[in-house]
Amino acid sequence: MNKAAQIIDQLIKTKFSQEVKVNLTRPKPEFGDFSTNIAMQLAGKLGQNPRKIAEELKSELENNAFFESVEIAGPGFINFRVAARQLEETLLQAFTAKYGSNNSGEGKTVIVEYPSPNFAKPYSVGHLRPGNQGWAARQLLDFTGWNVITDNHIGDYGTPFGIWVAGFLTFSSEEKLSERGIYELGDVYIKTKAAIKEQGEDGRLAQTAQDWLLKLDRGDQEALDFANKFKEISMNHIHGVMERLKISTDYEYGEAFFAPKGKAAVQKLLESGVAAQNADGSVIVPLEEYGFDVPLLVQKSNGAPLYATTDLATILFREEEFAPDKVVYVVGAEQQFYFSQLFAMSKKLGVKTDLYHLWFGVIDQLNADGTREKMSSRRGVVLMEELLDQAEEKARQVVEGRDVSEGDVKKIALGAIKFSDFAADRRTNILFDWNNIFALTGFSGPYVQYAAVRINNILRKEADFVPQDYKDYDFASEKGILLQLLEFPEIVSLAARDLEPHKIAKYLYDLAREMNRYYEKTRVSDSPIAEKSARLDLLKKVAQTFENGLNILGIEVPEKM
Ligand code: ARG
Repeated sequence: MNKAAQIIDQLIKTKFSQEVKVNLTRPKPEFGDFSTNIAMQLAGKLGQNPRKIAEELKSELENNAFFESVEIAGPGFINFRVAARQLEETLLQAFTAKYGSNNSGEGKTVIVEYPSPNFAKPYSVGHLRPGNQGWAARQLLDFTGWNVITDNHIGDYGTPFGIWVAGFLTFSSEEKLSERGIYELGDVYIKTKAAIKEQGEDGRLAQTAQDWLLKLDRGDQEALDFANKFKEISMNHIHGVMERLKISTDYEYGEAFFAPKGKAAVQKLLESGVAAQNADGSVIVPLEEYGFDVPLLVQKSNGAPLYATTDLATILFREEEFAPDKVVYVVGAEQQFYFSQLFAMSKKLGVKTDLYHLWFGVIDQLNADGTREKMSSRRGVVLMEELLDQAEEKARQVVEGRDVSEGDVKKIALGAIKFSDFAADRRTNILFDWNNIFALTGFSGPYVQYAAVRINNILRKEADFVPQDYKDYDFASEKGILLQLLEFPEIVSLAARDLEPHKIAKYLYDLAREMNRYYEKTRVSDSPIAEKSARLDLLKKVAQTFENGLNILGIEVPEKM
């Protein structure tokens, strides 16, 4: 807690002539409100006995009205308590509508890239985490003073086009396409791929697909018409799903935008000696000096651009266009090796931008026999829209019989799904289990949303209440809440440092539990007027903190639930 830390810092400066930044932790409640090991640290530096230093600090702190009691424990821990009233004053000074925010980003520019789904396929749960984690990263960076630019790096380049047209002409029709949209295109794609596999790469379908790709390259009108139609269907679908997920980006350049820039980028690599051309025309970037045995392939022998080529062009384009200090790629763990190679290449090329791969584990599901595996359905991938429909159905069941709007049902459904994404460190695989996701008494979105809704209900009911002065109120029953609220800014800093939104989720869950404990023993609405005034003022701050924290996670607070 800031104020206490500042007092101790100052004391150490005057008494021991040392510049320190005291770190406070929260010990078990029976030991105190806060604890610090600063005496031990100082002892090491000054070559003195830690207990003696702790004693000296203790006697000074005891004279300071801010500290209620000070104890020394073990080899030199200092545990202390602060009067709740003091905590309330500290909170009051720190509190704003943007409580928890800071300016550690100092206005530096960061590009956050998410959710980057691909054309040709309906949006699947495979791009759920990139959206959730990407949005949270965006929010965390924005909340901590970065200038955030977001870009949806859509996989809209490559062979799918030819496959679509060939498959569409063979297996589909205009009617089916206008009826089923992307789902028709998705099925056509799968069928065509399977047929090509059966016929072989020299088969008729593969040939037709290849021809359409060439036609598109030549600018043939019929091919362009197909391309535009398919693109429109794909983009409308992606936008529709993103809207349901309540995520958006500033830009959506996409791979196709960068592919034509690939040639020049590869040329640049060759000229600067970063890349080498093989006899067959393909171009590689050797990365031995960065610890990779395998070079990165940036151009095929036929001159066609690859994933790495478009990414190379993207890096150069972003430097020109936005001059970012940092770029955050929100992409699953399976591309870790690829990105480490890409980043090494960019270093070798002399790019100054700090490139960061924000990765996460896959979504597992529980099989009937209790084993875990990557989430799938009988038909293959789990479709995002079906998952959302299902979640809304569950949310509807949760509020069954109550007067809750469709808008609120959607907020609960999305809150449940998103919160479960933040249940643990993003690097671990998560287990998708409907029961946990909607567990009203456990670590879940609805549990936290409900705590926020409950406060908002009280505040709404008391909207006309005329508060009274409460400067004599001691806030003793609210101490737990005050301690919890005061931790929020530190949690935000930690979460933003490593882009770990699960720390916010854990915090909000703890805050919700603290609130539930509070209502069990304290009355708000029918307490004496001064107390009620104090309590309502504090509840407003709790409500704002829920709002700010959930907003980082991309979760809205329903009106009712
Ligand atoms: N579309 C890719 C996928 O779904 C993710 C793109 C990641 N971003 C990038 N710059 N490579 O796997």
